[in-house]
Amino acid sequence: MPAVIVVGVQWGDEGKGKVVDYLTEGAQLVVRFQGGSNAGHTLVVDGKKHALRLIPSGILRMNTRCLLASGVVVDPIVLLGEIETLKKSGIEVTPERLGIAGEVQLILPYHQIVDQEREVALGKEKIGTTGRGIGPTYEDTASRTGIRFADLCFDPEIETRLERNLTEKSRYLELVLGSKKKIDRDEVMNAVLRVRNELRPYLANVSQEVNRAKQAGELIVFEGAQGSLLDICHGTFPFVTSSSTISGYACASAGIGPRQIDLVVGICKAYATRVGSGPFPSEDHGPAGEKLRANGNEFGTVTGRPRRCGWFDAVAAQRACRLSGIDTLLVTKLDVLTGFETIRLGVGYTLDGQPIDDIPTVGALAERIEVQYEELPGWNEDITGIRSLGALPEGARRLLHRIEELAACRVGGFSVGPGREQTVLIDDRLRSLT
Ligand code: GDP
Ligand code: IMO
Ligand code: MG
Repeated sequence: MPAVIVVGVQWGDEGKGKVVDYLTEGAQLVVRFQGGSNAGHTLVVDGKKHALRLIPSGILRMNTRCLLASGVVVDPIVLLGEIETLKKSGIEVTPERLGIAGEVQLILPYHQIVDQEREVALGKEKIGTTGRGIGPTYEDTASRTGIRFADLCFDPEIETRLERNLTEKSRYLELVLGSKKKIDRDEVMNAVLRVRNELRPYLANVSQEVNRAKQAGELIVFEGAQGSLLDICHGTFPFVTSSSTISGYACASAGIGPRQIDLVVGICKAYATRVGSGPFPSEDHGPAGEKLRANGNEFGTVTGRPRRCGWFDAVAAQRACRLSGIDTLLVTKLDVLTGFETIRLGVGYTLDGQPIDDIPTVGALAERIEVQYEELPGWNEDITGIRSLGALPEGARRLLHRIEELAACRVGGFSVGPGREQTVLIDDRLRSLT
């Protein structure tokens, strides 16, 4: 069985969690490889909704083991809360079902305070982060001051290191950001020491497990968070997240060689959304954008913020397919377009009147992009019960075909509703996984 990477093609919330859940029926391992509790992955199974933030979307499959690889940033309090919530839904998350790499960096309460206060200080220039401490935690990784999960479990010096970090963050908050917020030292210390015993049994050697599973020919699914256009290097910087969200990072994070990967799956909506600030060339500020938000229930899983809505953008999709080497695209939320008389597709860009074929690296230029659209006729039939490509109305089939042409990437499947059973696979490489 192959090793498969699943990544978002747009600005996140493409439906990655739903697809990963669908593809993992026969998977041995599901490996989350970056991001943290900024993610919100929604799975709907038998009408019941599960919103996951850190735990991989294979957790509902009882024979699948879930791993958090080294590139993830873990908020231990959120993780324990998630384990508790799943337990209430009848899903036991034991150390047999979940393993955490010793290398993951911990998000501690001071990271969240710094994240939120920095946004306040930025005012109108704010990034619109989820406020979950993601950026400050990755900063501590790069500056080599962060606390890793293995440190939490075994480092006898952990209290001294925490004290040093607490002092540094307190000074930064007060003197640089001019914040009145105080970090409660005792709260941090107590929280850390409390979670230490509860989480220690989950410690895992992720690289070893992943490589052994690959050698044994088992199905491994690597689950990305966020989307390609939020990538720290290739996204619309600085309006990005703080990790690498593209397929290459799955290998770096899990500690497996790139030649071990067999298939890269990109998830994209049949339209586009974005949460937070930053360029969004195909955004629709009019009634159609509002209709997309209402029909698609486009409100953030983590923050509840309304998502900005717009149209499928082929230039952006081509970029994402190139960055991750996507073999096959799965187009979600096709049902949301039912009832639109015409459906717009962004097919090209101009900047100051000149055609360009990629998103400019400088944000100020990206904000000035003008998108050329093409329009396709829509459909009115309810498609939520459809389970094959051939049964789709002509308008929906034509749209998928056009997305395939424009993105220059095979469309290997689509989905017509939030439920697990509402995913339809066309590509044999995907069908063979389930
Ligand atoms: P993720 O972050 O990529 O996992 O996506 P989210 O879970 O944040 O957002 C996707 C939202 O769309 C969730 O509420 C899903 O339940 C929902 N969803 C996924 N696929 C479909 C679909 O095909 N149609 C509809 N109507 N909703 C979907
Ligand atoms: P999933 O995995 C959509 C966005 C935030 C903000 C930017 C930086 O559910 O697709 P951060 O808190 O990461 O520093 O915020 O990234 N963002 C997401 N947008 N889906 C996500 O995750 C996101 N995670 C972060 O809105 O614009
Ligand atoms: Mg999400």
